[in-house]
Amino acid sequence: MFDGVARRYDLTNTVLSFGQDRGWRRATRLALDLAPGDRVLDLGAGTGVSTAELARSGAYAVGADLSLGMLRAGHASRPAVPLLAADALRLPFPDAAFDAVTISFALRNIVDPDAALREMARVTKPGGRLVVCEFSHPTWAPFRVAYLNYLMRALPEVARRVASNPDAYVYLAESIQAWPDQAGLAARVAGNGWGSVAWRNLTGGIVALHRAVRP
Ligand SMILES: C[S@@+](CC[C@H](N)C(=O)[O-])C[C@H]1O[C@@H](n2cnc3c(N)ncnc32)[C@H](O)[C@@H]1O
Repeated sequence: MFDGVARRYDLTNTVLSFGQDRGWRRATRLALDLAPGDRVLDLGAGTGVSTAELARSGAYAVGADLSLGMLRAGHASRPAVPLLAADALRLPFPDAAFDAVTISFALRNIVDPDAALREMARVTKPGGRLVVCEFSHPTWAPFRVAYLNYLMRALPEVARRVASNPDAYVYLAESIQAWPDQAGLAARVAGNGWGSVAWRNLTGGIVALHRAVRP
């Protein structure tokens, strides 16, 4: 599915999110509290749009993804961003290889998110940070109703005009609805190798940033 959306992935995201995606990526970088010289893994990096943002901190940011189509699109548009092919469930890195690990809009797409969280903990140093940036559930009921209308009705229509594989955006809407809420995801993170779990909502809870520390 991601091979099919790769060609226009970055543009489609910005159109469908009304440009909010840029702020969400910046907030993810700041939540990771990266310092120059840190090594950070961006899992499910796709075209490297999230990895490029992390590199602005001065840290060494490497992206990993399963979709060769997304990686090819990333190599073409961002040749300076290190991107490699890897499965989140069997990462090709030794234990404790990274100071921080992050995943943006990808944990929801992995067949076994719990196993991916454990694998991320394995490759992170003790005391290292995790930030999960993922769609979540708006907290204010009237806003939630308006957002769900957009998600289920308007978004697939807009995607039909912009995306290279519009059906993938029907999946996007359905997978967002099926994903756990803020507290539910915090429990999943805490149950799979991470401590000091906390979260903060962005754009009224359309997106949540979950932070955690590797014990
Ligand atoms: C919605 S994209 C997110 C891309 C990017 N992080 C961003 O912020 O735009 C989700 C990515 O997760 C990747 N993915 C899904 N399952 C994976 C797995 N098991 N291992 C690595 N990447 C995976 C997909 O190939 C896809 O590129």
